[in-house]
Amino acid sequence: MGQAGNVFLVFFFFLVCLFSILRIASAGDPDILTDFEAPNNTIDANYFTFKGMRQLVGGEYPTNFTALKVSMNEFPALAGLSVSYAVLEFPAGSVNPVHIHPRATELIFLVQGSLQVGFVDTTNTLYKQCLQVGDTFVFPKGLVHFQYNNDTKEPALAISAFGSANAGTQAIPTSVFNASIFEGILDASFHAKRATIQKIEAGLKA
Ligand SMILES: *[C@@H]1O[C@H](CO)[C@@H](O)[C@H](O)[C@H]1NC(C)=O
Ligand SMILES: *[C@@H]1O[C@H](CO)[C@@H](O)[C@H](O)[C@H]1NC(C)=O
Ligand SMILES: *[C@@H]1O[C@H](CO)[C@@H](O)[C@H](O)[C@H]1NC(C)=O
Ligand SMILES: *[C@@H]1O[C@H](CO)[C@@H](O)[C@H](O)[C@H]1NC(C)=O
Repeated sequence: MGQAGNVFLVFFFFLVCLFSILRIASAGDPDILTDFEAPNNTIDANYFTFKGMRQLVGGEYPTNFTALKVSMNEFPALAGLSVSYAVLEFPAGSVNPVHIHPRATELIFLVQGSLQVGFVDTTNTLYKQCLQVGDTFVFPKGLVHFQYNNDTKEPALAISAFGSANAGTQAIPTSVFNASIFEGILDASFHAKRATIQKIEAGLKA
Protein backbone atom coordinates (compact mmCIF):
# COMPACT_ATOMS: atom_id res chain seq x y z
CA MET A 1 0.00 0.00 0.00
CA GLY A 2 1.34 3.43 -0.96
CA GLN A 3 1.41 6.60 1.09
CA ALA A 4 -1.98 7.60 -0.28
CA GLY A 5 -3.39 4.32 1.04
CA ASN A 6 -2.02 5.06 4.52
CA VAL A 7 -3.51 8.52 4.52
CA PHE A 8 -6.83 7.00 3.51
CA LEU A 9 -6.62 4.44 6.35
CA VAL A 10 -5.85 7.15 8.91
CA PHE A 11 -8.75 9.24 7.60
CA PHE A 12 -11.06 6.22 7.70
CA PHE A 13 -10.01 5.46 11.29
CA PHE A 14 -10.65 9.10 12.21
CA LEU A 15 -14.17 8.92 10.72
CA VAL A 16 -14.95 5.72 12.62
CA CYS A 17 -13.82 7.35 15.89
CA LEU A 18 -15.82 10.48 15.16
CA PHE A 19 -19.00 8.55 14.47
CA SER A 20 -18.58 6.45 17.63
CA ILE A 21 -18.19 9.61 19.70
CA LEU A 22 -21.22 11.25 18.05
CA ARG A 23 -23.24 8.10 18.68
CA ILE A 24 -22.34 8.09 22.36
CA ALA A 25 -23.06 11.82 22.66
CA SER A 26 -26.53 11.54 21.16
CA ALA A 27 -27.58 8.32 22.88
CA GLY A 28 -30.25 8.12 25.58
CA ASP A 29 -30.45 5.18 27.97
CA PRO A 30 -28.60 2.19 26.49
CA ASP A 31 -30.82 -0.22 24.57
CA ILE A 32 -31.36 -3.55 26.25
CA LEU A 33 -31.12 -6.84 24.34
CA THR A 34 -34.21 -8.37 25.94
CA ASP A 35 -37.91 -7.44 25.84
CA PHE A 36 -37.62 -6.00 29.37
CA GLU A 37 -35.58 -6.48 32.51
CA ALA A 38 -37.16 -8.80 35.05
CA PRO A 39 -35.75 -9.81 38.45
CA ASN A 40 -36.87 -13.46 37.97
CA ASN A 41 -39.15 -15.51 35.70
CA THR A 42 -42.17 -15.60 37.99
CA ILE A 43 -43.28 -11.99 37.46
CA ASP A 44 -46.78 -11.14 36.26
CA ALA A 45 -48.72 -7.98 35.28
CA ASN A 46 -48.32 -6.60 38.80
CA TYR A 47 -44.62 -6.11 38.10
CA PHE A 48 -45.60 -3.76 35.26
CA THR A 49 -48.14 -1.83 37.36
CA PHE A 50 -47.33 1.15 39.60
CA LYS A 51 -50.01 2.18 42.08
CA GLY A 52 -48.13 4.88 43.98
CA MET A 53 -50.01 7.67 42.16
CA ARG A 54 -53.33 6.59 43.67
CA GLN A 55 -52.54 8.91 46.57
CA LEU A 56 -53.30 11.78 44.16
CA VAL A 57 -56.91 10.69 43.78
CA GLY A 58 -58.94 12.61 46.34
CA GLY A 59 -55.79 13.43 48.32
CA GLU A 60 -55.10 16.74 50.07
CA TYR A 61 -53.34 19.32 47.91
CA PRO A 62 -49.80 19.79 49.30
CA THR A 63 -48.80 23.10 50.89
CA ASN A 64 -45.48 23.36 48.99
CA PHE A 65 -44.23 22.29 45.59
CA THR A 66 -44.24 18.50 45.36
CA ALA A 67 -42.92 16.15 42.68
CA LEU A 68 -44.22 12.59 42.73
CA LYS A 69 -41.72 10.60 40.71
CA VAL A 70 -42.19 7.35 38.85
CA SER A 71 -38.67 6.48 37.76
CA MET A 72 -36.96 3.08 37.86
CA ASN A 73 -36.22 3.75 41.53
CA GLU A 74 -39.91 3.79 42.42
CA PHE A 75 -41.03 1.45 39.61
CA PRO A 76 -38.31 -1.13 38.81
CA ALA A 77 -40.11 -2.36 35.67
CA LEU A 78 -38.92 0.86 33.93
CA ALA A 79 -35.28 -0.25 34.05
CA GLY A 80 -33.95 -0.41 30.50
CA LEU A 81 -37.12 1.07 28.96
CA SER A 82 -35.94 4.73 28.68
CA VAL A 83 -39.10 6.38 30.00
CA SER A 84 -40.32 7.82 33.31
CA TYR A 85 -42.87 10.23 34.73
CA ALA A 86 -43.37 12.81 37.43
CA VAL A 87 -46.59 14.43 38.61
CA LEU A 88 -45.89 18.01 39.68
CA GLU A 89 -48.15 19.77 42.17
CA PHE A 90 -47.79 23.54 42.52
CA PRO A 91 -49.77 25.25 45.29
CA ALA A 92 -50.47 28.96 44.60
CA GLY A 93 -47.23 30.93 44.42
CA SER A 94 -44.90 27.91 44.52
CA VAL A 95 -41.81 27.26 42.43
CA ASN A 96 -39.85 24.24 41.28
CA PRO A 97 -36.39 25.85 41.68
CA VAL A 98 -33.94 26.12 38.78
CA HIS A 99 -32.60 22.63 38.09
CA ILE A 100 -31.35 20.26 35.40
CA HIS A 101 -32.00 16.65 34.44
CA PRO A 102 -28.61 15.32 33.30
CA ARG A 103 -29.97 12.26 31.51
CA ALA A 104 -33.25 13.29 29.85
CA THR A 105 -35.39 15.75 27.96
CA GLU A 106 -38.58 16.64 29.86
CA LEU A 107 -41.98 16.97 28.19
CA ILE A 108 -44.44 18.77 30.48
CA PHE A 109 -48.22 18.78 30.07
CA LEU A 110 -50.33 21.21 32.11
CA VAL A 111 -53.48 19.57 33.49
CA GLN A 112 -54.73 22.30 35.85
CA GLY A 113 -54.04 26.00 36.57
CA SER A 114 -51.41 28.07 34.80
CA LEU A 115 -47.62 27.80 34.89
CA GLN A 116 -44.66 30.03 34.06
CA VAL A 117 -41.93 27.82 32.59
CA GLY A 118 -38.60 28.42 30.94
CA PHE A 119 -35.13 27.14 30.17
CA VAL A 120 -31.75 28.70 29.41
CA ASP A 121 -29.61 27.30 26.59
CA THR A 122 -25.81 27.16 26.44
CA THR A 123 -25.65 30.66 24.92
CA ASN A 124 -27.61 31.96 27.98
CA THR A 125 -30.71 32.66 25.91
CA LEU A 126 -33.87 32.37 28.00
CA TYR A 127 -36.94 30.71 26.45
CA LYS A 128 -39.95 31.35 28.67
CA GLN A 129 -43.64 30.72 28.33
CA CYS A 130 -46.88 31.08 30.28
CA LEU A 131 -48.66 27.73 29.94
CA GLN A 132 -52.44 27.36 29.97
CA VAL A 133 -54.31 24.13 30.69
CA GLY A 134 -53.78 21.68 27.82
CA ASP A 135 -50.40 23.14 26.77
CA THR A 136 -47.25 21.04 26.37
CA PHE A 137 -43.70 22.43 26.69
CA VAL A 138 -40.34 20.72 26.22
CA PHE A 139 -37.18 21.26 28.28
CA PRO A 140 -34.20 19.96 26.29
CA LYS A 141 -31.93 17.48 28.06
CA GLY A 142 -29.36 18.90 30.46
CA LEU A 143 -30.43 22.57 30.28
CA VAL A 144 -31.20 24.76 33.31
CA HIS A 145 -34.96 25.20 33.68
CA PHE A 146 -37.76 26.11 36.10
CA GLN A 147 -41.51 26.06 36.65
CA TYR A 148 -43.43 28.65 38.67
CA ASN A 149 -47.12 28.96 39.56
CA ASN A 150 -47.44 32.72 39.93
CA ASP A 151 -51.18 32.56 40.53
CA THR A 152 -51.97 33.87 44.02
CA LYS A 153 -55.04 31.65 44.54
CA GLU A 154 -55.18 28.68 42.19
CA PRO A 155 -52.97 25.57 42.36
CA ALA A 156 -51.45 24.06 39.22
CA LEU A 157 -50.96 20.41 38.30
CA ALA A 158 -48.67 19.13 35.56
CA ILE A 159 -47.40 15.78 34.33
CA SER A 160 -43.85 15.46 33.04
CA ALA A 161 -42.54 12.63 30.90
CA PHE A 162 -38.80 11.93 30.66
CA GLY A 163 -36.77 10.14 27.99
CA SER A 164 -34.87 8.13 30.56
CA ALA A 165 -35.83 5.60 33.22
CA ASN A 166 -33.63 7.62 35.59
CA ALA A 167 -33.50 11.26 34.42
CA GLY A 168 -31.78 12.49 37.60
CA THR A 169 -32.24 15.96 39.08
CA GLN A 170 -29.68 18.53 40.15
CA ALA A 171 -31.28 21.53 41.84
CA ILE A 172 -28.92 24.42 41.16
CA PRO A 173 -29.39 26.21 44.53
CA THR A 174 -28.55 23.15 46.62
CA SER A 175 -25.97 21.59 44.30
CA VAL A 176 -24.01 24.87 44.26
CA PHE A 177 -24.62 26.29 47.74
CA ASN A 178 -25.32 23.23 49.89
CA ALA A 179 -22.61 20.82 48.76
CA SER A 180 -19.74 22.22 50.88
CA ILE A 181 -17.82 23.60 47.89
CA PHE A 182 -14.78 25.43 49.31
CA GLU A 183 -16.05 28.91 50.27
CA GLY A 184 -13.28 30.78 48.44
CA ILE A 185 -14.35 29.12 45.21
CA LEU A 186 -17.95 30.29 45.57
CA ASP A 187 -16.89 33.84 46.51
CA ALA A 188 -14.67 34.03 43.43
CA SER A 189 -17.17 32.30 41.12
CA PHE A 190 -19.96 34.72 41.99
CA HIS A 191 -17.75 37.81 42.52
CA ALA A 192 -19.49 38.07 45.87
CA LYS A 193 -18.48 38.84 49.44
CA ARG A 194 -18.32 35.94 51.91
CA ALA A 195 -21.28 37.37 53.85
CA THR A 196 -23.45 37.35 50.73
CA ILE A 197 -22.67 33.69 50.04
CA GLN A 198 -23.29 32.82 53.70
CA LYS A 199 -26.70 34.48 53.53
CA ILE A 200 -27.67 32.30 50.57
CA GLU A 201 -26.33 29.16 52.26
CA ALA A 202 -28.20 29.95 55.48
CA GLY A 203 -31.45 30.32 53.53
CA LEU A 204 -31.05 26.83 52.08
CA LYS A 205 -30.30 25.18 55.42
CA ALA A 206 -33.38 26.67 57.08
C1 LIG B 1 -39.74 -12.16 41.50
O1 LIG B 1 -39.70 -10.72 41.44
C2 LIG B 1 -40.88 -10.10 41.90
C3 LIG B 1 -40.76 -8.60 41.63
O2 LIG B 1 -39.61 -8.06 42.22
C4 LIG B 1 -41.07 -10.40 43.38
O3 LIG B 1 -42.26 -9.80 43.83
C5 LIG B 1 -41.14 -11.92 43.56
O4 LIG B 1 -41.22 -12.22 44.94
C6 LIG B 1 -39.95 -12.60 42.95
N1 LIG B 1 -40.13 -14.04 42.99
C7 LIG B 1 -39.17 -14.88 43.37
C8 LIG B 1 -39.51 -16.33 43.32
O5 LIG B 1 -38.07 -14.49 43.72
C1 LIG C 1 -44.11 20.15 52.03
O1 LIG C 1 -45.43 19.69 52.19
C2 LIG C 1 -45.53 18.39 52.72
C3 LIG C 1 -46.99 17.97 52.72
O2 LIG C 1 -47.86 19.01 52.42
C4 LIG C 1 -44.93 18.36 54.12
O3 LIG C 1 -44.94 17.06 54.62
C5 LIG C 1 -43.48 18.84 54.05
O4 LIG C 1 -42.92 18.92 55.34
C6 LIG C 1 -43.39 20.18 53.38
N1 LIG C 1 -41.98 20.52 53.20
C7 LIG C 1 -41.51 21.72 53.47
C8 LIG C 1 -40.04 21.92 53.18
O5 LIG C 1 -42.20 22.63 53.90
C1 LIG D 1 -48.20 35.70 36.08
O1 LIG D 1 -47.39 35.79 34.94
C2 LIG D 1 -48.11 36.23 33.78
C3 LIG D 1 -47.18 36.11 32.59
O2 LIG D 1 -45.94 36.70 32.86
C4 LIG D 1 -48.61 37.62 33.99
O3 LIG D 1 -49.35 38.03 32.86
C5 LIG D 1 -49.50 37.63 35.23
O4 LIG D 1 -49.88 38.94 35.52
C6 LIG D 1 -48.79 37.04 36.42
N1 LIG D 1 -49.74 36.90 37.51
C7 LIG D 1 -49.43 37.22 38.78
C8 LIG D 1 -50.53 36.99 39.79
O5 LIG D 1 -48.34 37.62 39.10
C1 LIG E 1 -28.40 21.05 52.92
O1 LIG E 1 -27.46 20.11 53.42
C2 LIG E 1 -27.77 19.64 54.73
C3 LIG E 1 -26.62 18.78 55.19
O2 LIG E 1 -26.22 17.87 54.20
C4 LIG E 1 -29.12 18.89 54.67
O3 LIG E 1 -29.46 18.43 55.97
C5 LIG E 1 -30.20 19.82 54.16
O4 LIG E 1 -31.40 19.10 54.00
C6 LIG E 1 -29.78 20.42 52.82
N1 LIG E 1 -30.76 21.44 52.44
C7 LIG E 1 -31.42 21.38 51.30
C8 LIG E 1 -32.37 22.52 51.04
O5 LIG E 1 -31.29 20.47 50.48
